[in-house]
Parts: sequence; structure tokens; C-alpha cells
Amino acid sequence: MCVRFFPLMSFIALSMVTMFSCTPETQSVYEAELTKVIGDKTRFILPDSDDFASIPQTSANPLTADKVALGKLLFHEPMFSNVAKTQESNYTYTCSTCHVADAGFRPGRQQGIADGAYGFGVKGESRAKVPTYKESDLDAQGARPLATLNTAYVTNSMWNGSFGSEGVNIGTEDVWGKYDPTTALNALKAGALESQNIAGLSTHRMFYSKELITKAGYKAMFDAAFPNWSEEDKYSNKGASFAISAYLRTLLTNEAPFQKWLKGNSEAMTEQEKQGASIFFGKAGCVTCHYEKNLGSMNFAALGVKDHYEMGGLNTSESDRRNLGRGGFTGKDEDMYKFRTPQLYNLGDSGPYFHGGSKNSLEEVVRYFNTGVVENSRVPKTQIAEFIKPIGLSEEEIQALTTFLQNGLRDPNLKRYVPSSVLSRMCFPNNDLTSKIDMDCF
Ligand code: HEC
Ligand code: HEC
Repeated sequence: MCVRFFPLMSFIALSMVTMFSCTPETQSVYEAELTKVIGDKTRFILPDSDDFASIPQTSANPLTADKVALGKLLFHEPMFSNVAKTQESNYTYTCSTCHVADAGFRPGRQQGIADGAYGFGVKGESRAKVPTYKESDLDAQGARPLATLNTAYVTNSMWNGSFGSEGVNIGTEDVWGKYDPTTALNALKAGALESQNIAGLSTHRMFYSKELITKAGYKAMFDAAFPNWSEEDKYSNKGASFAISAYLRTLLTNEAPFQKWLKGNSEAMTEQEKQGASIFFGKAGCVTCHYEKNLGSMNFAALGVKDHYEMGGLNTSESDRRNLGRGGFTGKDEDMYKFRTPQLYNLGDSGPYFHGGSKNSLEEVVRYFNTGVVENSRVPKTQIAEFIKPIGLSEEEIQALTTFLQNGLRDPNLKRYVPSSVLSRMCFPNNDLTSKIDMDCF
């Protein structure tokens, strides 16, 4: 056993004992293995959140501290959820209703529901449909929400990569706006997040006007964030989207144990986590798709997992175009049922997993990959990724890989990305009565 923590007084004495009591083989086998399989560690190091020069961004929306500060508040501000289907639901939900910090910036339940639902629980798990809403009137999407973490590394956002004019969308201009009218916003050539969030503000029934911005006390912050913008652009969903997008790019999980390990702290991960990481980057080949700094990528693959409507998703069905993945956006046969490779940090904070939410735990995800048997018979075999075949991990290796995903990739301090209050002083993530009771917002 290695002694890691000891009182300061006996520091030197115990250090000596520790040095000799740790058998080198047990202490360093996975450290050495991981160092070997990873190669260049800098490939995976995430920048600090205030190191704007190192964070990927678009020239249309350079990062500034003023934009980030504004976006942080707007993402959590109920004041602009003012175009709900019913008067009673106005001012009750926010972006953070479905992207809850404590749940790894996803909702703590299968499906995120903003307008048309009430309640919160501890991390969004207790949100329930308002009985008087028709299912088709809910703001609920036919896919498990993606985390808004580490999106600086997402050149084309959503499970189907439909937003963003660059990256994998170069050459897809003819389908912008074709199947999903909101993707016409790619023509702005502003950046994936900027376009998506303009669309998102409408989808999620939020509306920014000069009058409301002023009334809510945000005018000076908009002025500081966008000094050279016309009033029309600035005090609008466009200005709000650009500020929110800047904030999202700073949501980096750079305090996760794996990140600390990459930066030179060999004690930051346990032996079991290091073993799991060695499997991820080595033997299991996970890194062939999960290769960017956020451990996701713009690689699209069909894993043959179930769709959201099969898992109890509301307002979705077998004919939902989202079930087609990339093919639902491009219309091309070769893209059908292929989904973007998502980032992997803080997933342990809330399941379920995959685009349809068909796996309840990370261990189930690992077992799915390990057995390699598809669960969605509608996906033609010819589309399924070659990777989906038995990997042959032992029970011990399954546990190690799961632990790496669960703990090694968990930034324990996401609270730093949440404001202590918003300018309206309303309750967030949600502001309906049940949520207020749940969160003790009085
Ligand atoms: C009703 C729940 C809900 C609300 C409210 C919501 N989102 Fe999302 N968000 C989702 C879902 C679901 C997805 C994945 C959709 C898909 O890919 O088909 C998503 C995806 C995203 C992504 C893409 C991440 C990536 O890696 O591609 C971003 C960025 C995002 N949301 C930002 C926002 C912002 C900003 C707001 C507030 C304006 C917001 N969301 C409000 C459910 C929600
Ligand atoms: C062939 C490319 C590929 C390989 C190899 C791969 N993945 Fe993935 N991974 C994906 C894609 C694509 C998705 C999303 C699929 C979907 O939901 O339809 C995904 C989803 C996941 C998820 C769920 C994320 C979420 O947000 O729900 C986890 C966890 C994961 N992968 C871990 C791994 C591990 C561990 C390995 C190695 C055993 C691995 N992946 C290998 C492409 C890959």
C-alpha cells in the first residue's frame, strides 16, 4: 500500500517509509503503460478557461471577458423565457433547465423539457410535464441532450453536426435549411455555436428586445460586450447568442483528474483509473473516434443503439429525422444512422447514455462496446461501424475502463461556471413554484 496523505509533522519520516514500502512494480505499471500508449500528452490538455488565446473560437466572435460574463448570466436567466406557449410558463425556464451544471451540463433525466414542464429535484431529475400541455406543445427534443461542456472543440454542433459552416459542413451548402429550416443560419458563417444558439433561443421560446434587456438590468453588459455593434444586432437574440457562445467555449473540464495527470501530477489518478485510461487509449481503441481534446470528435459512426422515442421520449416518434443522425441533415445514404462522437467528460454526473439514452450507466455503455451486439434492428448492418464487435475485455478491465470514464474524466468543480445569482434575482435553473420549493429559492 502506498501512503499518500500524512500529517505535516511526520512528513519526512513517512516519505522515507513510503518510498520503500511501495513496490515499484505495483505502483508504476499502469503509469508507464499509460505514458506509453498516450504518447504526446499535450494533445489532450485543455486550456485554462481564461486563457482566451488558447481556446478555439471563431473570428466572427472573439472571446472577451465581457462576453463571457454576460453569457454566464444569460444562460441561467429566466427573464428571457418570455414566449412560452402559456402565460403561466413565461419566466420559468432557462438554457440551464436542460443543461444543469450538477448533472454535467445535461438534464438529470432521460429527456430535457423546458416550456411545458415544472419542478427540478436535485439536478433536474424531477421535472414533469404540465398536465394541461399537449405533448406536441412541449419544448422537448427527440434526442438525449448533449453536454455544453468542452464545445470549443465542436466545429459542427448537435448529434448530426448540422450547425457550423466550416469543418465537416464544407460542401453541404445545398442542404442548409432543407430538412431543418433553422440550419439555414449556417449562411451567417458565424461559427457553429453562434448559429445554433440563435436557433436555440427561438426553439426554447426565449426572446431578447432592447426594452426587456434594459428592464432586466443587462443593457450596460450588452454595451460592454458588443461595443461596435448596431443596436438592432446587439439587443437581440443574435447578441445574446454570441455572448452565450463565448461563455460556452470557456466551459472546460480542465480540473478533471486525467487533466491533472496530463499536466504532470502522477498522483491525480488512481492505479485503476490509469489502467482504464491505458485500455481507452490502447487495447480497446476508443481513441480512434474519441481523439480530440474533449475526447469526442467530428467523426460520425453508427453504433446501432436505440432511439429516443423507444426510451420514453416525449414529442418524438419513429419518423423523427433525428433518428437518422448525420443522414437526417445531409440526406445522403452513406450518412444514415451515423451520429457524432460526443465528448466524454463528466458523463458520470447524469445518465442515461447514447443519443437515445438507452444505457443507464457507464458500465452498461462499456459492456455494450465489449460485447459488440447491436440493439437497433432498423439500422442496416452495412452502416454499423466496424468497431462494433467483441473486444474481449476481462471483468477487471471493464471495471477499470468504467472507473476511468466515471472518475478520471470527472471535473469535480463545475460550480465555478455557475453564477451565484442572476440580475433579475429569479430562481434558476427553473423558476416555477415547484422548482422554487425544490431548490429552496425563497
Ligand atoms: C428542452 C431542453 C433544452 C433546452 C432548454 C436547451 N437545450 Fe441545448 N440541447 C438540448 C438537446 C436535446 C441537445 C441535442 C440535440 C441534438 O443534437 O439533436 C442540445 C444541444 C445543445 C448544444 C450542442 C452541443 C454539441 O456538442 O453539439 C448546445 C451548444 C446547446 N444545446 C446550447 C443550449 C443553449 C445556449 C440553450 C439556451 C438558449 C439550450 N441549449 C437550451 C436540449 C436543450
Ligand atoms: C467508431 C467510433 C467510436 C469508437 C471506436 C468508440 N466510440 Fe464512443 N461513441 C461514438 C459515437 C458515434 C457515440 C454516439 C453514438 C450514439 O449515441 O448514437 C459514442 C458514444 C459514447 C459514449 C456515450 C456518450 C454520451 O454522451 O451518451 C461513451 C461513454 C463512449 N462512447 C465511450 C467509448 C468507449 C469507452 C470506447 C472504447 C471502448 C468508445 N466509446 C469507442 C463513437 C465511437
